[in-house]
Amino acid sequence: MSQNPVIVTRHLSHTYVAGQLRKQALLDITLEIARGSCVAIVGVNGSGKTTLVQHFNGLLRPTEGIVLVDGIDVSAKGVDLQALRQRVGLLFQLPESQLFGRTVYEDVAFGPRRLHMSRREVRSRVLGALETVGLPPREYARRAPFELSGGQRRRVALAGVLAMMPETLVLDEVSIGLDGEGRAEFYSYLRRIREERRVTIVLVSHDMAEVASLAEWLFVLHEGHLVMQGSPRSVFSQGDALREWGLNTPPLSELLLLLRKQGVAALAGKVNSLISRQALTRSSDSSSSAKAAGRSSSNHK
Ligand SMILES: Nc1ncnc2c1ncn2[C@@H]1O[C@H](COP(=O)(O)OP(=O)(O)OP(=O)(O)O)[C@@H](O)[C@H]1O
Ligand SMILES: [Mg+2]
Repeated sequence: MSQNPVIVTRHLSHTYVAGQLRKQALLDITLEIARGSCVAIVGVNGSGKTTLVQHFNGLLRPTEGIVLVDGIDVSAKGVDLQALRQRVGLLFQLPESQLFGRTVYEDVAFGPRRLHMSRREVRSRVLGALETVGLPPREYARRAPFELSGGQRRRVALAGVLAMMPETLVLDEVSIGLDGEGRAEFYSYLRRIREERRVTIVLVSHDMAEVASLAEWLFVLHEGHLVMQGSPRSVFSQGDALREWGLNTPPLSELLLLLRKQGVAALAGKVNSLISRQALTRSSDSSSSAKAAGRSSSNHK
């Protein structure tokens, strides 16, 4: 466990109550999120991911157990929720649908203005945040959000959270709906945010490729329980268990990337060459058998 965790939950349970209906969404979750790390919370629909992260900035209160952010119990009496939400920025699915400013600048400035900062401070935060997400202010600040592409709008929403200078950034399924290129771009900005701003990132996702390429620690939720946690390498090595919880291991290419990132380039290279050798053998096998069978070898690929 981490020496200096930014978020800790102990025996956290959450039950939604609506009239006679009760739904136990989280059961006895104990976890720690290391400061400055990028972690992912994975699990199928309804496993409790959103419920869990909403405890990290006080949007939900534990039914049982405690949640500590920087050592402060978020449900203690007299906790400054505004300060907490400034520390832990939460971006929801389809965040661009929450843009409402007349211009990109106005939108990103909304949060800092509510903190009663000087105009100069607001301006510097807005411009800095837009730069970080790859929307140069000269070009974008005065544009209307609705004129931008979906991916750009999402980055405006991200800039809005960054302008609050959070220590922790929680992203709840924010890459959904972006195409491959849009996603890759979004990830590259996340990496940049980590490097430049040293924030802790909590990704909620059920896309294992995304998780493999970004996170260094995974928490797996299933029906409200924390059923597994560990490095991506150790979690992905338990494919059978993951499948039981409705999850897949990431595609091979992502695993290779992961191996390379973790400093085992030689091993990754070896696996790569084995795969290409195998592919060669297979295609020569298939072309000879295809000839014999009078079929096209493309069927074998
Ligand atoms: N406001 C609510 N009232 C009652 N039950 C709820 C409420 N919000 C969520 N739930 C239930 O709690 C469980 C966990 O929901 P949650 O939204 O945390 O799951 P999730 O892992 O984020 O799912 P998804 O991948 O679909 O976003 C589900 O069974 C859900 O139906
Ligand atoms: Mg959710």
